[in-house]
Amino acid sequence: MDVYLAIASRREVREYTDVPIPAEIVHRILDAGRLSGSSRNTQQWEFVVVSDREALSEAVYAPGNVLGATLVVAIAGSAFALDMGRAAQNMMLAAWNDGVGACPNGISDAELAERIVGAPVGIVLTFGYPAKPRDPSARSADEWSAKAKRKPFDEVVRDA
Ligand SMILES: Cc1cc2nc3c(=O)[nH]c(=O)nc-3n(C[C@H](O)[C@H](O)[C@H](O)COP(=O)(O)O)c2cc1C
Repeated sequence: MDVYLAIASRREVREYTDVPIPAEIVHRILDAGRLSGSSRNTQQWEFVVVSDREALSEAVYAPGNVLGATLVVAIAGSAFALDMGRAAQNMMLAAWNDGVGACPNGISDAELAERIVGAPVGIVLTFGYPAKPRDPSARSADEWSAKAKRKPFDEVVRDA
């Protein structure tokens, strides 16, 4: 998929089917995180695939996202928030390229999340095939852009 089309057509997906994500796609998603740039290339992160969803669901603001996901990845470590954000977006775009939806999940109980994951957690990403499919090729990137619930271009882009 064209990268701009992937960016423009992607929205958070919080409801997933039970269809498992094939191992090679899971690997690609995780590798997209690993490949992300970070401040001075310090890579102070781990990408932790969490199997105990029941437990982790109690440490996030939206438990249902974690309980319903087919893949749950915690980005953990001491990386800057910007670095974690870059890794998260890379992973979610790589997933979308393979038709897999995703959502970032904020941590409501940092201590519990750290106990489950074994390191401080920056963000939890939930993945799965969307319960309500969305076909990126149904619209052009410009059409997706025009439909996005975002502030208008001229409100957030300016010269100085
Ligand atoms: C740092 C961060 C934390 C977020 N936490 C949650 C969350 O706890 N639960 C949730 O459902 N969505 C969460 N989101 C997703 C945002 O709500 C979403 O990115 C925003 O509403 C835009 O959604 P859209 O792309 O579908 O329009 C989070 C996003 C970010 C960047």
